[in-house]
Amino acid sequence: MNYLKLWIPVTLFFTIITQTKLATSQIPTTLEGPFKPVTRTFDSSLRRGRDAQIGSNVTALDPASVASEVWYGKESGKYTSKRRGNSTVYSQLYPFEGLMNYTSGIIHHVRIDGLEPGTKYYYKCGDSSIPAMSEEHVFETLPSSSPNSYPRRIAVIGDLGLTSNSSTTMDHLIMNDPSLLLMIGDLTYANQYRTTGGKGVPCFSCAFPDAPIRETYQPRWDGWGRFMEPLISRVPMMVVEGNHEIEPQVAGITFESYLTRFSLPSEESGSGSNFYYSFDAGGIHFIMLGAYVDYNSTGSQYAWLKEDLYRVDRTRIPWLVAAWHPPWYNSYSAHYQEFECMRQEMEALLYQYRVDIVFSGHVHAYERMNRVYNYSLDHCGPVHITVGDGGNIEQVEVDHADDHGKCPSAEDNMPEFGGVCHINFSSGPAKGKFCWDKQPEWSAFRESSFGHGILEVWSKPKMS
Ligand SMILES: *[C@@H]1O[C@H](CO)[C@@H](O)[C@H](O)[C@H]1NC(C)=O
Ligand SMILES: *[C@@H]1O[C@H](CO)[C@@H](O)[C@H](O)[C@H]1NC(C)=O
Ligand SMILES: *[C@@H]1O[C@H](CO)[C@@H](O)[C@H](O)[C@H]1NC(C)=O
Ligand SMILES: *[C@@H]1O[C@H](CO)[C@@H](O)[C@H](O)[C@H]1NC(C)=O
Ligand SMILES: *[C@@H]1O[C@H](CO)[C@@H](O)[C@H](O)[C@H]1NC(C)=O
Ligand SMILES: *[C@@H]1O[C@H](CO)[C@@H](O)[C@H](O)[C@H]1NC(C)=O
Ligand SMILES: *[C@@H]1O[C@H](CO)[C@@H](O)[C@H](O)[C@H]1NC(C)=O
Ligand SMILES: [Fe+2]
Repeated sequence: MNYLKLWIPVTLFFTIITQTKLATSQIPTTLEGPFKPVTRTFDSSLRRGRDAQIGSNVTALDPASVASEVWYGKESGKYTSKRRGNSTVYSQLYPFEGLMNYTSGIIHHVRIDGLEPGTKYYYKCGDSSIPAMSEEHVFETLPSSSPNSYPRRIAVIGDLGLTSNSSTTMDHLIMNDPSLLLMIGDLTYANQYRTTGGKGVPCFSCAFPDAPIRETYQPRWDGWGRFMEPLISRVPMMVVEGNHEIEPQVAGITFESYLTRFSLPSEESGSGSNFYYSFDAGGIHFIMLGAYVDYNSTGSQYAWLKEDLYRVDRTRIPWLVAAWHPPWYNSYSAHYQEFECMRQEMEALLYQYRVDIVFSGHVHAYERMNRVYNYSLDHCGPVHITVGDGGNIEQVEVDHADDHGKCPSAEDNMPEFGGVCHINFSSGPAKGKFCWDKQPEWSAFRESSFGHGILEVWSKPKMS
């Protein structure tokens, strides 16, 4: 029996419609003027997210005050099924003079299982008792797991942010009409903006070296939700955390926005963690790994990964695609060998199970590697692809570690989690050195521009 679950970020992105409906009268022409002067007041809750508060006296809302309902069915306007979910709120608090606190609007999560694969569903969400239900939306579930059915088109984005460049990326992506969206970390860059006014800078620590904590301006998350809603109200999105989601606050609490806003199949994939999990989409098994939680071979993520890889039935699900935020293979100066410890811990396991493709972000550019394993060309190794070029405020990376004078020094590129495991190459043209002096043989193509990736599966992989 096929059985498929879909996580729709209904919540975050549903705003209760309270505007009075405009009269259906015709819009007058200028010939019918002059008109009485009218000013429409700016609704600042549109920036902040309805009911979110930022300031010096924020009070968390009661999540139980609004129900979380989804009505859905296979025909427009006919909602044969109804589900209720849970609601929650989170806060981002700073016990430092001069910084502002934030508490979110109510965030709703509704889990719907038993949906049929490859099927269109029409839905509304909200609270019917107020009454406040959204407009109707429609989405299509992913195909069932088989070597002959695949999501039509999978979009991959890293490091998107919320800038004019992010808008260009999303416009192009929407034109490509994806049926599934993977977001490989660094979603909103809320932590490049100060709480005192929300003004952003491309390098927070350069602009504010004396900041008592790297504050994060949470209304960026509310704005990002509205920015993404036109697409993700109709196309499933799967996210995994990046360093910009860490967002430390009072009492050493981290990842609060990421963990509260997204529901991920951690239970369903047996990971028990929203930092790493797996799911199937047609004949593809996706593995999303956490680079900012323990990735050691002695830890629980590794143990779960091993079990998860072992369980994949490659006759039914031939393709294995893995994704995590910071790349293991990267020839740009930025983040060069930053997550080398993670590669050394986990690469052999992914290789053993013949992972086909690895997507990463973090480096704000595009780079596609040749099939590689342990820094040697290897036709059984995965193709690693960096797509950290979504269009965030930090700008695009242009320097290569092999450009003259651009080889990073040992202190550059410190990871925000885990150790430093720099290596000098043990063979080939860069033998004994930290950087190559030309584009490394494992780097097939690199380009410094903003954009997104599209993955289409046309056939079964050749197994060897
Ligand atoms: C923000 O919250 C923290 C922790 O509760 C508190 O210490 C601090 O005074 C608050 N700051 C403001 C500006 O209200
Ligand atoms: C803080 O907000 C609460 C609830 O809105 C209010 O009752 C209280 O008087 C406020 N305190 C200050 C110091 O403004
Ligand atoms: C709501 O919370 C309960 C208890 O924590 C949990 O069992 C249930 O799965 C949750 N439902 C959704 C839709 O998340
Ligand atoms: C980002 O957008 C700005 C203004 O819209 C444009 O000038 C710039 O070229 C874009 N950057 C890239 C790398 O596309
Ligand atoms: C991972 O292993 C390294 C080396 O054994 C150790 O230094 C580090 O503390 C470990 N990290 C975690 C999170 O356990
Ligand atoms: C990877 O290459 C290094 C350097 O040649 C070597 O020391 C190490 O044993 C290799 N690791 C594996 C898993 O083959
Ligand atoms: C690694 O290479 C760098 C230059 O690329 C060199 O300065 C350093 O001494 C090398 N380290 C080792 C242990 O060979
Ligand atoms: Fe990053």
